[in-house]
Amino acid sequence: MISPFKDPVYVTRPFLPPLEEFIPYLQQIWNSKQLTNNGPFHQQLEQALCDYLGVKHVALFTNGTVALITALQTLRIAGEVITTPYSFVATAHSLLWNGIKPVFVDIDPVTLNLDPDRIEAAITPQTTAIMPVHCYGRPCDVDRIEKIADNYGLKVIYDAAHAFGVKCHNGSVLNNGDLSVLSFHATKVFNTFEGGAIVCHDAKAKQRIDHLKNFGFVDDVTVVAPGINGKMSEFNAALGLLQLKGIDAAIQKRQAVDTRYRKALSAVKGVRCLPPPGEGVSNYAYFPILVQPDYPLSRDALYQKMLDQGIIARRYFYPLISDFPMYRGMPSAAHANLPVAKQVAEQVICLPIHPALSNEQVDSVAGIIVG
Ligand SMILES: Cc1ncc(COP(=O)(O)O)c(C=O)c1O
Repeated sequence: MISPFKDPVYVTRPFLPPLEEFIPYLQQIWNSKQLTNNGPFHQQLEQALCDYLGVKHVALFTNGTVALITALQTLRIAGEVITTPYSFVATAHSLLWNGIKPVFVDIDPVTLNLDPDRIEAAITPQTTAIMPVHCYGRPCDVDRIEKIADNYGLKVIYDAAHAFGVKCHNGSVLNNGDLSVLSFHATKVFNTFEGGAIVCHDAKAKQRIDHLKNFGFVDDVTVVAPGINGKMSEFNAALGLLQLKGIDAAIQKRQAVDTRYRKALSAVKGVRCLPPPGEGVSNYAYFPILVQPDYPLSRDALYQKMLDQGIIARRYFYPLISDFPMYRGMPSAAHANLPVAKQVAEQVICLPIHPALSNEQVDSVAGIIVG
């Protein structure tokens, strides 16, 4: 079939400011010759993000994956960590990079986040932490997770890679848990080309993170930990400052796309949209649909039909992390342990959603699904 569009419609397109607005920032970097190592843009962006997100401390990183790895180091997490199989591989990879054993627990069928009802049964004497993901930027049940963590003396590190700007009943979702990790990858709601951050709640934790992301250096002759190079450059930080100016408008445009899809798809039998965001503030990062058995096509047939018409949707998150070779031999990776995640991974398609998507494009994507 011929695509109605000149160019493919991608699941996402990076949000970028006008290039000419970035040039003065570059000029400042060229003038100062400070390219990295906690330069002026880095310091400004950390403060600006604290203000925008409503959090106490932000430590910028080169990407979200190194931030996750460092968050685990910050709290000296070891042994076993309970996590979700329904996420991007970096969530579990960050555990393996620390020599930690991931223990996969099934997801809730409505929120698609770690199911709090199943966490306790997975706790062993080796468990030291829980690493939930606010999947698609939809908040986990933070109160119940906190209660379980408190009862068992566990730490909580949220993979909040999708949750930039998200608020739940108690304010910024990033204020829950011991640490939260953001990704500013090109595909995310807020991007710095590549980038990430750890959000923490006290100055002591921030100081430890700052040491760890700079090889463990405290000063030029003192190294206190086997740290890594996780520093964000001035180039990325400068872009972040400029991106922040347009972020509210970008999220509003995403919201309009979300609303339009919901309206167009509400009556389609066999297609389930996730419930609209409840109380709080959403960032409309993704628009997943679940293609159920009473839809006339299989998920993969619908995915292919879209591809044939130039719509590059994505099957996030398929396969499950626990089905990749480095995880699938683990007892917790067994399909019998993860029936909900397995089913959702086989039904999900994330539809294109980004600020530059036109009404015509949204209608065309929805039209393919309506059939
Ligand atoms: C849930 C999740 N965790 C972690 C990451 C890793 O972030 P980054 O690509 O910035 O390393 C991503 C995305 O890329 C993600 O979607």
